[in-house]
Amino acid sequence: MRRALELAARGPLTGGNPQVGCVLLDAGGAVVAEGWHRGAGTAHAEVDALSRLEDARGLTAVVTLEPCNHTGRTGPCSEALIAAGVARVVYAVSDPGHESAGGAARLREAGVEVIGGVLADEVRAFLHVWLTAVARHRPWVTVKWASTLDGRAAAADGTSQWITGTAARQRVHEQRAASDAILVGIGTVLADDPALTARGDGGELLAHQPIPVVVGERGVPATAAVRAHPAGLIETGSRDLEAILRELDARGIRRVYVEGGPTLASALIAAGLADEYAVYLAPVLLGGDRLAVGDLGIPTIADARRLRITSIEQLGDDLLVTARPIQGS
Ligand SMILES: NC(=O)c1ccc[n+]([C@@H]2O[C@H](COP(=O)([O-])OP(=O)(O)OC[C@H]3O[C@@H](n4cnc5c(N)ncnc54)[C@H](OP(=O)(O)O)[C@@H]3O)[C@@H](O)[C@H]2O)c1
Repeated sequence: MRRALELAARGPLTGGNPQVGCVLLDAGGAVVAEGWHRGAGTAHAEVDALSRLEDARGLTAVVTLEPCNHTGRTGPCSEALIAAGVARVVYAVSDPGHESAGGAARLREAGVEVIGGVLADEVRAFLHVWLTAVARHRPWVTVKWASTLDGRAAAADGTSQWITGTAARQRVHEQRAASDAILVGIGTVLADDPALTARGDGGELLAHQPIPVVVGERGVPATAAVRAHPAGLIETGSRDLEAILRELDARGIRRVYVEGGPTLASALIAAGLADEYAVYLAPVLLGGDRLAVGDLGIPTIADARRLRITSIEQLGDDLLVTARPIQGS
């Protein structure tokens, strides 16, 4: 299962489907084939591993996620394993998908021995973002901002480019490229005219481009840079955050990276829709009232939103603090 998990990590983070790995073992426990999922529309891990063998009869398939039981862009993995004559299937985590679940039951019905729950905690931690998104029917939301040490996101005149240095900005591009969509408020589009593309060191476009989503009732100007985004543009024309996230879920968007501004970030936090924070802190002071986060509707310290810091990275002169809400806080 650990080898299957290593293989799973080779698949893409983005896209509607999870990262899944599979190894096929012979009766002596030796690995005879390996496979992993390379993204929506391509073979699932089990089918990828099976495709490397002429004869898989009597083998054991070890797979990180319960084999799916539905026909999407590819056929059900349960049927592929049965047709190949696999004798035993060992998996870690049950499939939470409402359409795709039921693979284990289907395999048992066909006489295949099935063992679930192997290394389940490890695999669940690895798939945490995807599992959470699928279970809630809304994407995982990372709220990012760059602020001064005194918590300001812009100067008095509204300028905020660039609070942080190049290493921090490069990390932002990596985080964009690891997301399915970038959410931004119309205020930021009007103030900064950001391109919202994921770019490398030399300014070149990275292979994966998340789709920009502009939140707010006002329209995006015809001349806005984001209109030239290679992944297209979603203009919501609305402030209804829950409805927007449901709509993104329906498009197979699992990871959303929120790039502000303060009004949109605060609204998401106040609504309990922020799953993770990526806070870039620069050793700069601006003072004034342009705070990174506005009113969250918290009247007293006892009601403060408590977070757990999951990592701290130094990027040039800046810090990236990553944190998640403490459940129930
Ligand atoms: N330091 C950073 O990390 C960072 C990042 C981004 C922006 N900024 C700075 O932030 C400033 C812009 O801030 P901002 O707060 O005006 O921008 P914003 O959050 O991007 O946009 C605010 C607008 O979004 C709409 N909106 C979307 N969801 C909403 C909701 N749930 N509730 C209310 N309104 C909602 C409203 O427009 P409608 O009336 O059209 O609905 C609102 O006026 C600029 O100075 C920019 O440079 C800094």
